[in-house]
Amino acid sequence: MLTWGIIGTGDISEKVVADLTALPDATVGAVWGRSTDRANHFARGHGIPFATAALDQLLAHADVDVVYIATPAHTHADIAVGAIRAGKHVLIEKPIATSAVDAERVYTEAATAGRFAMEAMWMRFNPLYVEMIDRICDGLLGSVHSVRGSFGTPFQARGRVLTPAQGGSILRDRGIYPVTLAHWFLGEPTALAASGVFEDGIDVDGHATLEYETGFAQLAWSGIRFLDLTATITGERGWLTIDPMFWAGSRARVHAGSVERIFGAPEVVEHPRQANGYGPMLAAVTDAIGRGGLEHPWHSHANSLAITRTLDAVLAGMAASDV
Ligand SMILES: NC(=O)c1ccc[n+]([C@@H]2O[C@H](COP(=O)([O-])OP(=O)(O)OC[C@H]3O[C@@H](n4cnc5c(N)ncnc54)[C@H](OP(=O)(O)O)[C@@H]3O)[C@@H](O)[C@H]2O)c1
Repeated sequence: MLTWGIIGTGDISEKVVADLTALPDATVGAVWGRSTDRANHFARGHGIPFATAALDQLLAHADVDVVYIATPAHTHADIAVGAIRAGKHVLIEKPIATSAVDAERVYTEAATAGRFAMEAMWMRFNPLYVEMIDRICDGLLGSVHSVRGSFGTPFQARGRVLTPAQGGSILRDRGIYPVTLAHWFLGEPTALAASGVFEDGIDVDGHATLEYETGFAQLAWSGIRFLDLTATITGERGWLTIDPMFWAGSRARVHAGSVERIFGAPEVVEHPRQANGYGPMLAAVTDAIGRGGLEHPWHSHANSLAITRTLDAVLAGMAASDV
């Protein structure tokens, strides 16, 4: 049985803990919140035996094996390094950090200390993506040459996302999903062009073309306007589209394999979401730690670092084009 500690009592912690407590081989032993009241309230709501507003108390808790970090992005790296130094494994919400330098600091610390570390990129563990990635690797689309994905809604984005001091960034909050998707199939780009809109020091809208020797990716994200919430992966034998919301997708349409499939009736693949959808990732992390793993091959340190480097480069490209 693996015992988890929860750092942060916000929206995503509520959803993740609900999925975590449903796992047979994991239990939640402690929670940290910025105020004692919120920590106690969260603990009561989820039957967690220990609550504190002192982070060092949670990190010193002997029963806690692994911590889940769900605070604003600019705090992730320091909290993760502190947790690793206290002997804990870490699962860190996306984005793992607000720069590749900080992401590398976390992964180096974890590797040196022999502790598991992963960015909580739940999309990779979603059963729909597991099936689609397996089948694409087996040749479903032939060689993949392009990825398109966008994530934009004009709904008022949340406080932390729009606060510069909290590492706010629509790219790192939403754009991370299409950028991650491009990395899975095409890797790290050889060049890119990006532009976007900044408001009060925050990138609130952007788009980028990533270039590869073998293809390209066209990606867009926004907190101020609609951009369709789908993603498409295209190869030499056809394409597949993940229906909205692609990062939490439950249905794909595969236009490949025959003229009928391509032009008329695509194959429909469905994996309805179970509970809040974080269970598969949490089960995979619990299993990897139980087996002594230091990273998960589906979202390795190298892959997460490369994605963070691309996010840094996209942001720099957007800033350079913002005249
Ligand atoms: N994987 C996903 O599907 C998903 C979805 C949403 C968010 N996320 C990620 O999860 C993280 C948290 O998002 P959220 O939506 O849960 O945010 P949230 O609801 O705003 O909660 C953030 C938590 O961090 C605490 N906090 C705020 N400022 C802090 C600081 N300076 N130092 C330490 N703790 C601080 C908050 O405490 P108070 O309550 O006292 O303010 C709260 O407990 C972000 O990195 C986000 O990108 C992931």
